[in-house]
Amino acid sequence: MKTIALITGSNKGMGFESARQLAKQDIHVLIGARNSEKGKAAVKSLQDEGLSAEFLLLDVINEESVKNSAQAVANQHGKLDILVNNAGINPEYRQGIFTFEQLPFDLLIQIYETNVFGAFLAIREFLPLLRKSTAGRIVNVSSSVGSLTEQSNRESLYYGINTVGYNSSKTALNAMTVQLAKQLSGTTIKVNSICPGWVKTDIGSDAAPRTVDEGVRIIVQLATLAEDGASGGFFNEDGMIPW
Ligand SMILES: NC(=O)c1ccc[n+]([C@@H]2O[C@H](COP(=O)([O-])OP(=O)(O)OC[C@H]3O[C@@H](n4cnc5c(N)ncnc54)[C@H](OP(=O)(O)O)[C@@H]3O)[C@@H](O)[C@H]2O)c1
Repeated sequence: MKTIALITGSNKGMGFESARQLAKQDIHVLIGARNSEKGKAAVKSLQDEGLSAEFLLLDVINEESVKNSAQAVANQHGKLDILVNNAGINPEYRQGIFTFEQLPFDLLIQIYETNVFGAFLAIREFLPLLRKSTAGRIVNVSSSVGSLTEQSNRESLYYGINTVGYNSSKTALNAMTVQLAKQLSGTTIKVNSICPGWVKTDIGSDAAPRTVDEGVRIIVQLATLAEDGASGGFFNEDGMIPW
């Protein structure tokens, strides 16, 4: 039976490239996207490369949508092997919002809805299917800006990046990784947070030094982790990131 991977928000950016790299490893990828047209176009471009891909309508901030998508995967495949919680937003960076005073409450709510609650919903709804896998893997796409250690270290590259909502949303996502890893200990499912580095995407902007190819390496690595691999950790390409 083929390995099945769901990548949320994979119509573009690192989600799309992660799906592509996983599909190149003979994995059947489910392109989770909230926009049908964009999701189907992404699937077509993978299929045109001869890769095995399928569209899954999935808006991570809509509970019904997440439930329906999990039901669709249950009906179609009966299991899920890999869940990459990739869907995310960072409107503060684009809008130049770097202080508490500048951050509108509704924007903060939107950021948490997508980056934290969305990941929660996907995990909760897809866990029953991941439990049907012989080696379930969950990758939470986080960021070093969510590391409280990095944020508190004046010498850190990340010290000066102060998008209040985004940073703290990734800290909260990391906290979920820790909680979930504890709940899953003793099972064959592993969950980890990753940081791809600062990557040229719509979120990262053209100013970012890293390519999408470079960014997704750590996602793919942890999505395909061996049986003796880590769980409950936070990693970039160079190794462990402090919480
Ligand atoms: N780029 C960086 O430097 C960087 C660094 C650290 C971490 N990250 C993280 O990497 C992940 C991927 O971001 P990216 O850099 O590849 O940016 P991106 O190209 O903007 O991709 C973000 C993806 O998330 C999707 N998305 C947003 N809200 C969604 C929702 N409610 N339901 C489903 N999908 C939704 C977007 O879909 P639409 O096209 O419909 O908007 C898009 O496909 C994010 O979690 C981000 O925080 C990025």
